[in-house]
Amino acid sequence: MALVTTTEMFKKAYDGGYAIGAFNVNNMEIVQGITEACREEKAPVILQVSKGARAYANHTYLVKLVEAAVIECPEIPIALHLDHGPDFETCKACIDGGFTSVMIDASSKPFAENIEITKKVVEYAHDHGVVVEAELGTLAGIEDDVKVAAHAASYTRPEEVEEFVSKTGCDSLAIAIGTSHGAYKFTAAQCTRNEQGILVPPPLRFDVLEEVSRRLPGFPIVLHGSSSVPQNYVKMINENGGKMPDAVGIPEEQLRHAAELSVCKINIDSDLRLAMTGTVRQFFSEHPDKFDPREYLKPARANIKELVRHKLVDVLGCAGKA
Ligand code: G3H
Ligand code: 13P
Ligand code: ZN
Repeated sequence: MALVTTTEMFKKAYDGGYAIGAFNVNNMEIVQGITEACREEKAPVILQVSKGARAYANHTYLVKLVEAAVIECPEIPIALHLDHGPDFETCKACIDGGFTSVMIDASSKPFAENIEITKKVVEYAHDHGVVVEAELGTLAGIEDDVKVAAHAASYTRPEEVEEFVSKTGCDSLAIAIGTSHGAYKFTAAQCTRNEQGILVPPPLRFDVLEEVSRRLPGFPIVLHGSSSVPQNYVKMINENGGKMPDAVGIPEEQLRHAAELSVCKINIDSDLRLAMTGTVRQFFSEHPDKFDPREYLKPARANIKELVRHKLVDVLGCAGKA
């Protein structure tokens, strides 16, 4: 199967009450860990590339790695998506350069300007058979070089979504309902603590999601900032020389519930980074004499694969849907 757009994936996910995992890729081991899990679990998948990933690994290397995964996993649909496209030019470069889906993220701009920029990207993308994700509302956290403080984040305003979607023609919409980018999604002040002393975040705003869905029946909604920050990996990092106090994510049962509603795409990046970093740190603690990258990247890739398998089966509900 060649690379696909997300159109068919989202229709089936919407009707079936599950979500597609959108995992960020930056190197070969991450691509392999994700796609091996998806192939074994027969799950459709979105591999996404940020501006930072293109700067780090180079556009062509990333496209070729994803094309290699398509060859190795012919039985599953794979989409290649630009994550947080900052402007028309970056979106155009990805549309011209083999991507099947792009996000234009003009969510920090005023409403009218967001519409104008998004519409321009949609027109170019649709002329080239590529689909477009747009965003309304502002998530907290860090994405690329932009850091949004918790107090500066704002929930999506449901009363704006119909006008936004009809004027832009976008194919899916990322909304802000309380998720946040990175491994430190909430300040201690926003949370309570459970008996183990772990921070418990405030619940997602399902009322906002439900009102958006009521206004946009059948339309695919996207959640960014949806890592759950697995505490076993935070512990592994902290026990092996790292320092990540109070790293906390979105509870998985809330993501599962969102996937049963209109959320068709759930973005996960930080969890993969934590799995990779924890595994490599532990490897070096246990083997201070080793220096072959294959020896420490192999268990890191294996743990990414198992983490992705868990997401597909227990959180997203997309296992067996390829
Ligand atoms: O939302 C942003 C993604 O986690 C990508 O992160 O910009 O560091 O590649 P990055
Ligand atoms: P996390 O930082 O929660 O993994 O979110 C990733 C994301 O939204 C990528 O666009
Ligand atoms: Zn994001």
